[in-house]
Amino acid sequence: MVAAVRVHKHGGPEVLTFEDVEIPPPGQGQVRIKQHACGINFIDTYFRAGAYPSPVGMPFIAGNESAGEVTAIGPGVTDIKVGDRVGFVGPLGAYAAERNAPAERLVKLPDNISYEQAAGMMLKGMTVQYLLNRTYKVTKGTIVLIHAAAGGVGLIACQWANYLGATVIGTVGSKEKGELAKANGAHHIINYRNEDFVAKVKEITNGKLCDVVYDGIGKDTFPASLDCIRPMGMFVSYGASSGQIDAFNINILQTKGSLFATRPTLNTYAAKKQDLVDIGADLFKVVGSGAVKIPINQKYALKDAAKAHRDLEGRGTTGASILIP
Ligand SMILES: NC(=O)c1ccc[n+]([C@@H]2O[C@H](COP(=O)([O-])OP(=O)(O)OC[C@H]3O[C@@H](n4cnc5c(N)ncnc54)[C@H](OP(=O)(O)O)[C@@H]3O)[C@@H](O)[C@H]2O)c1
Repeated sequence: MVAAVRVHKHGGPEVLTFEDVEIPPPGQGQVRIKQHACGINFIDTYFRAGAYPSPVGMPFIAGNESAGEVTAIGPGVTDIKVGDRVGFVGPLGAYAAERNAPAERLVKLPDNISYEQAAGMMLKGMTVQYLLNRTYKVTKGTIVLIHAAAGGVGLIACQWANYLGATVIGTVGSKEKGELAKANGAHHIINYRNEDFVAKVKEITNGKLCDVVYDGIGKDTFPASLDCIRPMGMFVSYGASSGQIDAFNINILQTKGSLFATRPTLNTYAAKKQDLVDIGADLFKVVGSGAVKIPINQKYALKDAAKAHRDLEGRGTTGASILIP
């Protein structure tokens, strides 16, 4: 039997149940992983609450990001062997001491990347990679606005955008979070709890506005985020930590300056194996060189997953959070 955190019915953090589960031997194309660390992400709360349907039905083992060591391989697996150190993003099943996973979706970890670092960045860091390099190509001089700049995705995004030469404006919910985001690459900080972030963006950019806004907040920052974008700039809505954006009239993109808007997900950008490998390689390069650090600011025992969700949804965390099985 293996310790795991399962969801039997949708709801708040209290539905996360710590229990022993049976894991079968790895099937066709699968490997067994002894997990050393599991990442906590906002998407885990969407699955827990039922906002995203579980692709494996109920009950399901929560979690989409983890890292560990391969202990067995199933039939048909050729490119992964017992003893390999691997990182993993999706599908569900991460909050467990051991899991089976499709070999096709594993990324081999370089020696200089620890399991804890990997568990803190396979989803968040790979997301930042495609957001800054493919969704909108950030280069020297690009002006970016990153909402929730002190969060898991946020702190990685601030560092990476700064490394690419961008002017980085970050929004945060407290003074302490602002200091942290500044120490991690943000040039300008706006506390959107007590400042009008549109007015501040206008002031900071001398009216030029931003080339791109990365918005993982959703409901609370829409449509104001659009007023921070220069004509023909891009609105990247990549998450909804405050709730989903309501249906809107697409003409708003015209009236706000012929804007582009997209709602991207890593699932699409890393759908092809080669893209997954390339995104991972780029992430390992910037982290390995020290240009981007993965701040793991909360560590919990696996049995405390419910507390971890409460902290994340209560805006009480910064950087990445991980569970240790
Ligand atoms: N599309 C993709 O490929 C992809 C991949 C990974 C993550 N995401 C998305 O990226 C976003 C960030 O994920 P994360 O795991 O790194 O979380 P996170 O940013 O560490 O945590 C969420 C943060 O959002 C801010 N926030 C503002 N209003 C909030 C509210 N009403 N409730 C809760 N938080 C609120 C809080 O920061 P302040 O206190 O500073 O406001 C909070 O700390 C999420 O929306 C997630 O779904 C998308």
